[in-house]
Amino acid sequence: MTGFNFNPMDPDMLRDPYPIFREMRETDPIHRSELGFWVATRYDDCRSILIDKSFGQGDFVKNIQLFYDDSFDVLAQPAYAWLSRVFVMQDPPQHTRVRDLVASALSLKRITEMAPRIRRLSQQQLQKFAEREDANFITDFAYLFPTLVMCDMLGMQEGEFSWELLAELNQAVADTFPVFETRALEPDELALANRQMEFLTEFFDELFQRRKKHPRDDLTTAMVSAGDGEDALTPEELSTSVIGLFGAGFETTAHMIGNGLFCLGDNPEQRLKLRHNMNLVDAAVEEILRFESSLQATYRTALEPREVAGQKIEVGERVLTIVAAANRDERHFDNPESFDISPRSQKPLTFGGGIHYCVGAALARLEGKIFLEELFSRYPNFSVDTESARLRGAFLFRGYEDLRVTLRG
Ligand code: HEM
Repeated sequence: MTGFNFNPMDPDMLRDPYPIFREMRETDPIHRSELGFWVATRYDDCRSILIDKSFGQGDFVKNIQLFYDDSFDVLAQPAYAWLSRVFVMQDPPQHTRVRDLVASALSLKRITEMAPRIRRLSQQQLQKFAEREDANFITDFAYLFPTLVMCDMLGMQEGEFSWELLAELNQAVADTFPVFETRALEPDELALANRQMEFLTEFFDELFQRRKKHPRDDLTTAMVSAGDGEDALTPEELSTSVIGLFGAGFETTAHMIGNGLFCLGDNPEQRLKLRHNMNLVDAAVEEILRFESSLQATYRTALEPREVAGQKIEVGERVLTIVAAANRDERHFDNPESFDISPRSQKPLTFGGGIHYCVGAALARLEGKIFLEELFSRYPNFSVDTESARLRGAFLFRGYEDLRVTLRG
């Protein structure tokens, strides 16, 4: 790709990155971007980087300064200071300790027990959506459903939050999460992210105080009590992790649902296939995750010198592993550019790999499955207006900002 320079803000990339990914996989699989980092697009390379312990998170401050300059005071920004403490940004042993505590609070048992409540939330929100006129599926269902699941999981019951507060929390996460993006934020964007992070921290600190005083059988109490042992989560680690979970639990899952509905609307024969054989629902969720991953990429920093696909990566250099490009690698998947819900033998890389493998993968899959089951059983004649759908224009978290869906056909 002579003269090509990877740029996550390129309008072509934001509209349809897949032809660019294909070209990169073929001609420049470990690309050196002028932005100062490497970009991996082939499945085997991305996977080997994600599972290789020679790649980790490295020096957080330096990693962020790469997008700004060396004088940028990263940790003076509350939003970046928060991000530096989130365990996904850390290496062992700190990562291991917090991950283990969070993973035990998010156990499969807890998730399985939640299934009937997740189904009820999906039914209620679909019904509300069906009754609304001129509703936007993304804001009026896709964001709400996983947020309510997360509230249920954290044990926030109605009475403890209002719809206005939920909307404020959602907005605060949406305004804060650009710090994960692979670029410098505009001054206004960063100022907003900082303000919203302070609001989130205050809200969750108060929730913990309440749970400490009045324990319940919920994730918040489980995490507060996980702090009673020797390995205790500090109050700061607690609120950092829960804000992370709250955000991870809705940004990515919401767009999995929105992207999934778009894909089904865009591929009527696949939609019909699912309608006539709901046993394919797990495979359909997997295909949505593969074909239009709501999280497109993740980063690693070389902790030791490494050679990947003939390129030497030095200590401290960063690699953007584009899992969405890996998911369409023809070396790994048959007909990767087709959306096909027939079960595939290979798993997509959407949830990452290695020690940072998504701790919420089982929950996200369950939410996707329950949503599709409820949608097809209650509103089999739903229609999706793919023509008017509007993408949100962000690289890392890919999804729609406006998607018109009619449930009663
Ligand atoms: C479709 C939905 C989701 C997608 C595509 C997704 C994707 C990912 C990916 C790719 C990673 C690895 C990041 C890395 O290697 O740097 C990750 C990590 C993580 N995810 Fe998810 N995720 C989803 C849903 C969720 C949910 C529902 C939760 C929480 C309830 C969650 C919580 C986390 C956490 C805490 C980590 C960090 C794990 C670690 O560093 O050890 N995710 N996710």
